[in-house]
Amino acid sequence: MNHAAIIGWGKGMPPAVLSNADIATFIDTDEEWIVSRTGMKERRITHVSVAEMAEVAGARALACAGIAADQIELVILGCSLPDEICPNMASAVSRRLGTTNAAAMDVNTACTGFSYALSTATALIRSGVMKTALVIGAEMVSRCMDWDNRNVAVLFGDGCAAVVLQATENEEGVLAERLGCYADARDILDVRGVGQRYANTGIPNGYTSWNFDGQEIFKRAVHGMVQASTEAMAKLGKTIADIDLVIPHQANLRIIDAVGKRLGVDPDKVFVNIHRYGNMSAATIAVALVEAIEEGRVKPGALLLLPGFGGGLTWAAQVVRIGQRTTPLGSTGIDFPPCAKTGLELVNDLRARKARYHGAAKVFLEEAAALLSG
Ligand code: ACO
Repeated sequence: MNHAAIIGWGKGMPPAVLSNADIATFIDTDEEWIVSRTGMKERRITHVSVAEMAEVAGARALACAGIAADQIELVILGCSLPDEICPNMASAVSRRLGTTNAAAMDVNTACTGFSYALSTATALIRSGVMKTALVIGAEMVSRCMDWDNRNVAVLFGDGCAAVVLQATENEEGVLAERLGCYADARDILDVRGVGQRYANTGIPNGYTSWNFDGQEIFKRAVHGMVQASTEAMAKLGKTIADIDLVIPHQANLRIIDAVGKRLGVDPDKVFVNIHRYGNMSAATIAVALVEAIEEGRVKPGALLLLPGFGGGLTWAAQVVRIGQRTTPLGSTGIDFPPCAKTGLELVNDLRARKARYHGAAKVFLEEAAALLSG
């Protein structure tokens, strides 16, 4: 039977850093609250597009795998806040990378975007439709962030990572998964202002208001990640004792701890990088997986568990067997263009841009009021 081994990996993290102290300069929050409630210390703010981040991560993953771009038969990209919707993002990334023989598909399941994309590509390879795929998790949350809302502004960051999958007869790659969705709870995480519902209403694209029930998401996230993990491991006849490393979605350190406790896993076997990047939505598990390999936390032949959840409320977990090679075959000189601004300066630019719309909204409302009274 075919499997889909992970043969390459790479990340594309934008260089500008936004610290907790930076955020405290424009909203009522502080280092102590953010670290103790979330585990986050800093996050990245991109000065380039989603497609450019994905190009860097994708090119690094291809070099790591030691394969040429034209060997890729599918570019699949998990992302919920893309640069554009039609044409899709995967085609933009494909053109940048020169993957001329590849199909191109976007997957939007919010923070589980990489997980769902990984399962989709694995299924296409295992069923014999194709042999090689580039799977990307990318997100630029900063452009659509409601920076004045302290309930959400501290939680998110931008980033991207990718893996290359290739057909193999070895028992490697995703061996089992469970994907699900608490659709009844889809309204508890709702980014208002993005999507067709808001077309022609006068709300500028990117001018968002986040409807966000943090405590309810917290409960559902823990439940979904534990359920998905338990069912995925059971499909393989495995228990948590068989897992070498858990690489969970990083939305809150307390969520990660709660999931770990319920699964009964030793905290030393849980990979955490939330302090560096916050929650990067669809990029989170991808970046964590790549960093775990790069930092030597993933040994040859290791069995990994990847639990995740996202808006929708989607949830997922995969059990993944890593191959014998955990070092790259090659590298590339590709990198981001220099960024002349700090993370705080980039965010203040976004805030200023949004504030211009506050003014436009005020003018619009005054004109409407004058018309009505006239
Ligand atoms: N700084 C300071 N105080 C704050 C901040 C902040 N940034 N944000 C909220 N507070 C205040 C609240 O106003 C509240 O004050 P009050 O008691 O005077 O009303 C107090 O802190 C406690 O608020 P809670 O909501 O009870 O805080 P909680 O411990 O639940 O933590 C958090 C909030 C971090 C959002 C948590 O609920 C959480 O992590 N939820 C799930 C994570 C999540 O939703 N991640 C994104 C999901 S998206 C995805 O991954 C798909």
